Amino acid sequence: MQVNTVTTRAFNDQQPGTSGLRKRVHVFQQAHYLENFVQSIFDTIAAPPGATLVLGGDGRYYNREAIQVILKMAATNGYGRVLVGKGGILSTPAASCVIRKQQTYGGIILSASHNPGGPDGDFGIKYNTANGGPAPEKITDAIFSASKRITQYRIVDAADIPIDAIGDSKLGDMTVSVIDPVNDYAELMESLFDFAAIHALLTGGITQSGAQTSDTEMPPLRPLPQSAGYAITSDLASVVDSPSRMASGSISNVSGARFRIKFDAMHAVTGPYAREIFINRLGAPFDSIMNAVPLPDFGGGHPDPNLTYAHELVAILYGENAPDFGAASDGDGDRNMILGKHFFVNPSDSLAVLAANAHLVPGYKQGLSGIARSMPTSAAADRVAASLGIPCYETPTGWKFFGNLMDAGKVTLCGEESFGTGSDHIREKDGLWAVLFWLNILAVRKQSVETIVTEHWARFGRNVYSRHDYEDIPTEAANGVIKLLHDSFAQLKEAQFGHLQVKLCDDFSYVDPVDGSVSTDQGIRILFTDGSRIVVRLSGTGTGGATLRIYLEAFEPDVAKHHLDTQQSLGPLINIALKISELRERTGRIQPTVIT
Ligand code: G1P
Ligand code: ZN
Repeated sequence: MQVNTVTTRAFNDQQPGTSGLRKRVHVFQQAHYLENFVQSIFDTIAAPPGATLVLGGDGRYYNREAIQVILKMAATNGYGRVLVGKGGILSTPAASCVIRKQQTYGGIILSASHNPGGPDGDFGIKYNTANGGPAPEKITDAIFSASKRITQYRIVDAADIPIDAIGDSKLGDMTVSVIDPVNDYAELMESLFDFAAIHALLTGGITQSGAQTSDTEMPPLRPLPQSAGYAITSDLASVVDSPSRMASGSISNVSGARFRIKFDAMHAVTGPYAREIFINRLGAPFDSIMNAVPLPDFGGGHPDPNLTYAHELVAILYGENAPDFGAASDGDGDRNMILGKHFFVNPSDSLAVLAANAHLVPGYKQGLSGIARSMPTSAAADRVAASLGIPCYETPTGWKFFGNLMDAGKVTLCGEESFGTGSDHIREKDGLWAVLFWLNILAVRKQSVETIVTEHWARFGRNVYSRHDYEDIPTEAANGVIKLLHDSFAQLKEAQFGHLQVKLCDDFSYVDPVDGSVSTDQGIRILFTDGSRIVVRLSGTGTGGATLRIYLEAFEPDVAKHHLDTQQSLGPLINIALKISELRERTGRIQPTVIT
């Protein structure tokens, strides 16, 4: 086996963002680009000779090519074994699961998560450490430094390694073990949740009741706008967020019928996982999953489970004879969106509901040690933590900040407003895990999704919450908005806007309570005296232009107001945000690309 040492020149743009290095496919296709980054990873982590690496991705365009390159480089960088998901497939949570279960040194995950794929789409690569979680910033920073110094990389000259059949083969001294990408993960899920109860729920083994309002009393639905396309209008946001108009407390659509679910895999990685778990193990009918065949370009879609991009599922859940429960996951399977019949569960609320009901679920009934949420995520989970007498940590955006807290046993559940929820069972957020957690709660409580959420609000108060994304705007305009806000801190302090008074504004910084590492500039916060918040930050995952995210939150203790439209309730905050950021003037955008 011939080893080639290839002379290369550094690229200066290989800085990992919120979650690994993400670029357009054609950037990765440049000669040496992928190889440089992989060698920078190997040089930085310096695995001991003979170490085992996990390797897989979400199946997007360029996945298979990248797997071959990485295998051929691993073989000459001292690895003894690489565990590759069959066909090069491993969802992000499954990769984290395998790293932990097989006690490997770490893993490389190929994904650009929820970003579109295909030859003109995005590709991505990230390194996860032995705890199964994304490498912390000190490692990603070191990888970036190495990528700026690199002058050569090593790769073996060999034919492509077969990855489509389970079994071992040799590449020089290194063993390539092609593994089933689903098994370890499905077993882990079965160890956490009451599969028998969920099976009974999904197969009609249990007759459900608990109706508060019967379907026949339901007011007519406002029609769903034709296409949620790229611009979700506040019209749609109000449709999906008007529980009073959608009241439906019954757990099944027809009295005594089985509980019907629809899971949208969005032609991304979760298709095979959903088939094994929902159909094979939990007995759900085959039509419970849609878009279940993974495609390299995700069927031309945008594999992001939100109200805009999962509009096909949203239309089904808001249509006639809708299923009782709907869910979707993203490109690499770590995100989730939860829907009830004619009802959208805000991800911040979802985290809070899971925490408040965790005692009903076998894997969590012994109690939670703590909860963590990213700073922009609503404080709904904080209220649950307070009632449980456990700590709630506020971290910067990105899952990598949860790893230390979980490793130290400080938190059990974690979540982000960006459709991410997870626990210490692995070190990534986990889409199907969240879906199963919800199904377990539904199987025990025998109430509808909507009833569970509205009862939660009645008990804890409602953190009215929304995120407005302005995608693909010129970088200079986006930076200008951030700078303006920075420059306005002194002037904004204690400023009065109608009934709202500013209490504090800053750029969030975080001191990791475990290792003391400090992360600054993590998002602008404008906190008001009544607990309302505006948060503004720039996305760290995009690949084209800039994406500005505005997060809005107000607390509503009055149950009589819980049914009010979210966008209207947040209207005063939205106006303040637009005014102080000069967003419309600076970007020319009059409405957000996506509202969640
Ligand atoms: C986004 C989300 C963030 C999430 C990340 C990876 O990052 O906002 O919560 O952890 O994707 O899924 P952003 O683009 O905002 O930097
Ligand atoms: Zn993802």
